[in-house]
Amino acid sequence: TGDISNREQKELVALRVAEHVKDGQVIGVGSGSTAFLAIQAIASKVKKENLTVTAIPTSVEVALSCARAGISTTTLAQTRPDWGFDGADEVDSEFNLIKGRGGAMFAEKLVMASSPKTYILVDESKFVNRLGHNFPVPVEIDPRAIHLVETKLQEMDVSAVGLRMAKHKDGPVITEAGNLILEVRFNHIGLTTEQDLNAIPGVIENGIFFNYPVEVISN
Ligand code: A5P
Repeated sequence: TGDISNREQKELVALRVAEHVKDGQVIGVGSGSTAFLAIQAIASKVKKENLTVTAIPTSVEVALSCARAGISTTTLAQTRPDWGFDGADEVDSEFNLIKGRGGAMFAEKLVMASSPKTYILVDESKFVNRLGHNFPVPVEIDPRAIHLVETKLQEMDVSAVGLRMAKHKDGPVITEAGNLILEVRFNHIGLTTEQDLNAIPGVIENGIFFNYPVEVISN
């Protein structure tokens, strides 16, 4: 696959996930550029075959994409997904993931944990030998907890901690739930790191997805 671009790889996996769509299904929809391409592929299949599907979106971005593509949406409070799809920032050999480059990992984890199965759509650039190789772990925190969480993180095996800053406004990124995101570089991400982070008061969720029922679709 070395000779086709990442964009072309994303388009191919988007077409492949669309093959799994059946009439009447509720589908969890992840965020990011690959999930966006999958929405387009699913929307054209739905139109061509005259199917009805309902999406559970994981961000405002994706809710808007579904609306523009003519796919109706619902929420986890109403129903549960039959299955879902999502992208990832890193995938290791055991199919553990780092997610949250786009800041949507809280809703993505809620939807993934509510789905019997999630297809993870990736191009080859996402595969790593060890989690944390390319991306820091994003950790969503209540703003009031920032000093507490930073202090607790210093007791863990971390090499750097920073607040995610906004690109198109001054100050930090504020998530859709009104929280902040710390970016944490770990020396080692182990079996319990995901749960250890979430055990700190004020941590809402983090971007490590360990041992979820996923099936990776790549080229
Ligand atoms: C969103 O917060 C992320 O978890 C995305 O799912 C991830 O960054 C993948 O995005 P791309 O498909 O754009 O690489």
